[in-house]
Amino acid sequence: MRILLTGVTGQLGWELQRTLMTIGEVIPVGRSVSNPSLQMDLTQVDTIRRIIREIKPDLIINPAAYTAVDKAETEPELAMAINGIAPGAIAEEAKRIGAALIHYSTDYVFDGNKNTAYTEQDETNPQNIYGKTKLAGEQAIAEVGVPHLIFRTSWVYSLRGKNFLLTMLRLAQEREEIRVVDDQIGAPTWSRMIAEATAQILSQAPENISDFLANKGGLYNLTATGQTSWYGFAKAIFELEDRKSDRKLQRLIAIPSKEYPTPASRPAYSLLNTQKLSNNFGLVLPPWERCLDLLLNLNN
Ligand SMILES: NC(=O)c1ccc[n+]([C@@H]2O[C@H](COP(=O)([O-])OP(=O)(O)OC[C@H]3O[C@@H](n4cnc5c(N)ncnc54)[C@H](OP(=O)(O)O)[C@@H]3O)[C@@H](O)[C@H]2O)c1
Repeated sequence: MRILLTGVTGQLGWELQRTLMTIGEVIPVGRSVSNPSLQMDLTQVDTIRRIIREIKPDLIINPAAYTAVDKAETEPELAMAINGIAPGAIAEEAKRIGAALIHYSTDYVFDGNKNTAYTEQDETNPQNIYGKTKLAGEQAIAEVGVPHLIFRTSWVYSLRGKNFLLTMLRLAQEREEIRVVDDQIGAPTWSRMIAEATAQILSQAPENISDFLANKGGLYNLTATGQTSWYGFAKAIFELEDRKSDRKLQRLIAIPSKEYPTPASRPAYSLLNTQKLSNNFGLVLPPWERCLDLLLNLNN
């Protein structure tokens, strides 16, 4: 299977690149890949179309996205080009060549007014530009009607790139006190777990992935099990992390969101119900604390 993979410099794309090697021939495309004929900027729809037509993959996996949630408020057009328009163009080209598409989306498509986990059937109502553009991408793919999987995930972290875990570890070395929001609830999800779940699902597919997805495709929630707040996540990081000696941090303080205003508003509650994933693919991701522990102790 020839797999065209975007976003390989990102948290999830990087994990996908190493995980998918056992499943097929992975062809990485992106803004900074060395091979000029694979340089794909997702704001350039013509380039997207040309590269897909040239490579003719069996499967396209698109973890690339504009993920700067606050910055998106002042760059709505750029965020929409990457998150909303590019996925539609990728889907059209995939359909044209008979390829399937796997794409990733977010818990931020919801407004957070529920107090039980969101299912795939729940009504969306994004509260920020990022969420609106990601929802537009989901809808564009569904409208094209290509065999696809869209995985909505949440609070992605890893040891690469920009994420809450790395921010907390850095701040703990710089500050004696860190104040973290305690009234937003979600599920922190290690990018490696998302990549491994994607690979496990692909390994269930018979030779023709498009036929498999014509049956089992669609929208799925894909997050670690359990829930916490950003404060709870930070507390667990400092309890589980081993290198305590070079830490300046003395006090971790829980605060309400109103004491930490951000350009983009975020849902107060964005837990995703993963029952559909479990029913259709027999997959349940481990509890978020277990994943965090695994990641923090990778080198021990
Ligand atoms: N991060 C989260 O907390 C979170 C939460 C829920 C859902 N998600 C979703 O999960 C998926 C993976 O997120 P992630 O955290 O792995 O993202 P990430 O680490 O921010 O990586 C984003 C990737 O997209 C690429 N990209 C951005 N703009 C591009 C452009 N114009 N052309 C080509 N490539 C471009 C980046 O490449 P460059 O190196 O060239 O910039 C990078 O490889 C995304 O769909 C995201 O929306 C993420």
